[in-house]
Amino acid sequence: MPTTLSRIASEGKHGHDMMPIIQGVGRAAIEISALLRGAVFRGALGAAGAENVQGEEQQVLDVLSDEIFLEEMRSTGFVCAVGSEEQEELLVIEEYTDADYLVLVDPLDGSSNLDVDGPVGTIFSIVKRKSANSERPHVSDTLQAGSEVIAAGYVLYGPSTMLVYSVGEGTHGFTFNPASARFELSHDNIRIPETGGYYSVNESNADQWSDGMGEKLENLKKDTGLGMRYVGAMVADVHRTLLKGGVFLYPADGKNTTGKLRLLYEAIPMGFVMEQAGGKSMSKDMLVSEVQPEALHQRVPVYLGSKTYVDGLLKG
Ligand code: AHG
Ligand code: MN
Ligand code: MN
Repeated sequence: MPTTLSRIASEGKHGHDMMPIIQGVGRAAIEISALLRGAVFRGALGAAGAENVQGEEQQVLDVLSDEIFLEEMRSTGFVCAVGSEEQEELLVIEEYTDADYLVLVDPLDGSSNLDVDGPVGTIFSIVKRKSANSERPHVSDTLQAGSEVIAAGYVLYGPSTMLVYSVGEGTHGFTFNPASARFELSHDNIRIPETGGYYSVNESNADQWSDGMGEKLENLKKDTGLGMRYVGAMVADVHRTLLKGGVFLYPADGKNTTGKLRLLYEAIPMGFVMEQAGGKSMSKDMLVSEVQPEALHQRVPVYLGSKTYVDGLLKG
């Protein structure tokens, strides 16, 4: 019998409660992947005609994926609110305001790849509320450091659809099996290789990077001889880094002065998965998991990957 999503979910500290939420993520992933496959026939590619709170043009598929994810979280009955990259405010689930958990989501990561049939993803993390269950969940419930996250992971919509997640007991990868119509454990207890792999970064920004990162990366390249790969979708770039080793980075630059990637929807969940696979996740000079979030849509610099390369890079 293949190992199912919920069996691994049940092994963490909050196992009983994580099972329905992870199953909900799995259902959302199956729906979003079907939506992506048929998007061109439904005229669903292209811009939605609106901007999200971050001033980025929303794609139709960003909006639809957001709706699907929210609906699946609602149906679990275990989630009181969802913070989404595509929503300005925290979305409170009115039927379950007394539920224990909040979910943070980047419903469609790498959406600039959509028009060229490139890989995209979904990123999520789950936290337990700080406020009393009798109160209305508040945005302050979402502002928890990575060290407090209970579970996090991502879905990669590539040649196959993979769901990779951790409940704090290692990182595990599941692949959607079209024959059984469910996710089955395919990558048990992923460990990032200590050496080898690639560096992965949008190097066209190098002359704008802060903190002398241009020179630091040059030194890393000279010292290690690492090759380069970059897809432009964090999920795909980090997934490759996790399986092959190396380092993924998005430093602060002249345009994105505090970094481009979002702390709550991208840095913390991907950092959690990376650390659980034996890798390292830094945001400038501190662990991603130690950064105290101050706002829902906060952005930070990100350096994730094999310990030796992350340390070597930041040391210069
Ligand atoms: P999103 O599509 O959710 O807005 O995320 C895009 C992010 C991330 O996926 C990727 O690592 C990065 O933007 C790519 O940025 P550049 O195009 O500046 O390289
Ligand atoms: Mn993203
Ligand atoms: Mn997105």
